[in-house]
Amino acid sequence: MKIISVVGARPNFMKIAPFIRAIKEYNSQQSRVFSSQSAVTNDQSLMTNDQLPPHPASRTPQHVSHLLVHTGQHYDDRMSKAFFEALNIPNADINLGVGSGSHAEQVGQTMIAFEKVLEEEKPDWVVVVGDVNATLACSVTAKKLHVKVCHIEAGLRSRDMKMPEEINRLVTDRLSDLLLTPDTLSSENLREEGTPDNNIVFVGNIMIDTLEANRSVAEKLTIEKIIEENKLLGAPPTPHPAPRTLQPEHFALMTLHRPSNVDHPDVFTPIINFLLDEVTPDMPIIWPIHPRTQNKLKEFGLWEKVVNNPRMILLHPIGYHEMLKLNMDARIILTDSGGLQEESTVLGTPCLTLRWNTERPITLREHGGASVLVGNNVERIRKEYHNTLKLSRTPRRPELWDGKTAGRCVEAIVNYGYEKK
Ligand code: UD1
Repeated sequence: MKIISVVGARPNFMKIAPFIRAIKEYNSQQSRVFSSQSAVTNDQSLMTNDQLPPHPASRTPQHVSHLLVHTGQHYDDRMSKAFFEALNIPNADINLGVGSGSHAEQVGQTMIAFEKVLEEEKPDWVVVVGDVNATLACSVTAKKLHVKVCHIEAGLRSRDMKMPEEINRLVTDRLSDLLLTPDTLSSENLREEGTPDNNIVFVGNIMIDTLEANRSVAEKLTIEKIIEENKLLGAPPTPHPAPRTLQPEHFALMTLHRPSNVDHPDVFTPIINFLLDEVTPDMPIIWPIHPRTQNKLKEFGLWEKVVNNPRMILLHPIGYHEMLKLNMDARIILTDSGGLQEESTVLGTPCLTLRWNTERPITLREHGGASVLVGNNVERIRKEYHNTLKLSRTPRRPELWDGKTAGRCVEAIVNYGYEKK
């Protein structure tokens, strides 16, 4: 069986790393089965259950060959290469070199380049993850060439058609042959849309595989070193906050990049004023800043104000371990990122999600998670900020967020077409 899996943007990398590892583990398991079958040919009574050849009604053991395609949507070293290195992802076999552009440009160029790859490689499956432009472009291209599509992280719905990611999710899920869901709410969304039950497999959250595999490395980092190594160049030198304020639970962590928050000055300016006037007096804010957000701050004349506040600690986009460590130690997180919402649920970090909706309701406090939706209205953000400061860190683990999702993804693919157990 030949699988091509696709990554394009930063949030894809932590999802594909465990999947590639799980393929390797599956192949080595299969070769053990093969060799034990040939060594003990006729006397099956001597075999353990693991060594028995597969039941005729289930799949035949097979080798899975795998190619990784990077569309090139995120191309900066800090947005891409650093993650490949930190998460031990093998270099992409093929890079489509798509880069920045409008949505149509990114999607169109990816489709043109990916079609050539598919014609050449003729895979049995294309595996896409998440909801970025690469996910949409490659699932459509594969489906049109009659290649089966598997979507990891299927069924998430914000029901907000202004979010480009929601459109990507809807199209990808509508086309996918195999839909692997992170939680039962997502499986339910798919059933309600009419997806055949046999095509949906609840596997858990693959992001948590990466979190669990990297926890111990992250724990060893220090906040001071993360700041020192990632301070944004070009900003005036950030006066070093007093060491006491960098102790765990003495800083806020923030990320913001959604167009709905950062693209309009009438939305973005009051948020920035709130952060500078009302949060930084309480505690420093560590803010690894996305390239699009930095551009918008400059465009709206907010840049000077932000960099001149000594308690606003601006960093470049940071690595996976660094972000995990900051999440482990932050008093509170303010974010519009889906991945951070999920990680803060497992780590228990009280989280304000600066969105009006979420495709990940399982991360909300009413479903047992750590986050609350605050939209981008300052009154609401202020109220929930003060409420949230009263909460303590309470780690939670939704069903099957157990660090073993990637193995279930590979099993689901190789068992596709056979009866569900
Ligand atoms: C994309 C994803 C979003 C994800 C986010 C995480 C889509 C529709 N959106 O949004 O779901 O949460 O990534 O990062 O796929 N840029 C750089 N260097 C890079 C990449 C981007 O400077 O390596 C700049 C470019 O100016 C670009 C802008 O950031 O125009 C936006 O990048 P883009 O890939 O279009 O979307 P994101 O906002 O990153």
